Amino acid sequence: MSFDLVLFGGTGDLAWRKLMPALFQAFRHGSLPAGGRIIGVARDDLTDQAYRELIQARFEEVEGAKRPNAAEFEKFASLLHFVRLDLSKPEDYARLKERLDSRSADTVVMYLATSPALFTTACEQIGKSGLATPRTRIVLEKPLGHDLASNRQINETVRSVFEEQQIFRIDHYLGKPAVQNLFALRFGNALFEPIWKREYIANIQITIAEDLGVEKRGAFYENTGALRDMVQNHALQLLCAVGMEPPIDSSADAIRDEKLKVLRSLKPWTQESLERHTVRGQYIAGTAYGERVQGYREEPGVDPDSRTETFVALRTEIQNWRWSGVPFYIRTGKRLASRDARIEVNFRPTPHPIFPAPEGASNQLAISLQPKDGLELHLLAQGQDGRGKGARADGTALSPVQLDLDFDKRFGAERVGAYERLLLDVIAGRLNLFVRSDEQEAAWRWVEPILDFWQTGKPRSYAAGTWGPSASSAMIARDGYNWSEEN
Ligand code: BG6
Repeated sequence: MSFDLVLFGGTGDLAWRKLMPALFQAFRHGSLPAGGRIIGVARDDLTDQAYRELIQARFEEVEGAKRPNAAEFEKFASLLHFVRLDLSKPEDYARLKERLDSRSADTVVMYLATSPALFTTACEQIGKSGLATPRTRIVLEKPLGHDLASNRQINETVRSVFEEQQIFRIDHYLGKPAVQNLFALRFGNALFEPIWKREYIANIQITIAEDLGVEKRGAFYENTGALRDMVQNHALQLLCAVGMEPPIDSSADAIRDEKLKVLRSLKPWTQESLERHTVRGQYIAGTAYGERVQGYREEPGVDPDSRTETFVALRTEIQNWRWSGVPFYIRTGKRLASRDARIEVNFRPTPHPIFPAPEGASNQLAISLQPKDGLELHLLAQGQDGRGKGARADGTALSPVQLDLDFDKRFGAERVGAYERLLLDVIAGRLNLFVRSDEQEAAWRWVEPILDFWQTGKPRSYAAGTWGPSASSAMIARDGYNWSEEN
């Protein structure tokens, strides 16, 4: 199957940091279908050769990226092409069309890796210039819109040009191997599903902590904030994956129908819950990895009086039979104590304890997304000599132990990364791991009251390198729980 992958924003940050390395990996793994072209599109004036050299040079700058060996890169580079295009100029789209028509690929993927403000213009022009045909697919990066109204407007424009089946809304968290494994764990094993409910689960915590600050994206982040950047999409998609009902099959719509039901069942906000169950923070200077780092307001591109949140903690519930009354906590932020993304399912204690156990000890299943991709099952066991906290003369005291599954070790370190997986899915036309417009709208609808509530007031400060403002711990403590690292 031949394909043309057109990367709008082909010289931009996302293209060279994430997309090109992912495509190169797919090429190295031999999973990129043969006979493909990758066509970078941007306003720069570059030849194909100059574009190849630029991408090669940029690869060197990507932290952690595999240094391409020259021979390997040369083969990959032969797939790379470049077309100069100003998104607002119809004649430039005509030139792109000529290039695409120079051969007839089976699939044409248009990836909008540009600023979201340009999505509408780009889609309209793609439609007008005859670039949207039944063999075309469009990929839209998040954030899709700034609020519900702008999200709807973008979706309407895109749908006036493409059928829903041709639209791939990316949330790269859905491409992470740990999320695939969560689906496998829940729906490929009989063990957990019977206890995956309110009777056995006390609470669920979703943490996406980053140790980095906003880096060079201050200007973008200033108008976005953590709620729009991470919660509306990534964190809510994780909540859906952990909270959804078993779908009738593994088809895209069966999965998306169930995720949509979760989003529609989220507890509506009231003035009281907005006050009690939302916390926003902004990092000030602090110490990260032994080094002094600046505060958010000192970052380039950021307003010195900024009220943009770099940290969010929320408590919500899924109002249905399975989850009634079970709190779901979400927490995400920049410049936190470590890079750590995980979902923790905390089980209720035994109904009738007969052994002494450490205070508050109970079972926990932790699905770790990063830095490692794995599963931990926390259990209680009897140490042989019965020593330790709460030990009794007859040696029956319990101590926490853990079963630890490291998927990278188990399945090999060269596993398929999120963008690699998702790009291959687009080329193959698999929509399972992409977000449908009604899901996105439901997520915006739920997030909007928080955005409105935060129109006034300001975020609480937290020192870089910590776990966020103390109000986040206080919020969860009111329910009698702690964030895990505080146990
Ligand atoms: C992006 C956000 O969607 O996800 C970034 O815009 C964030 O602000 C990134 O840093 C986190 O992704 P990952 O895969 O590094 O956890």
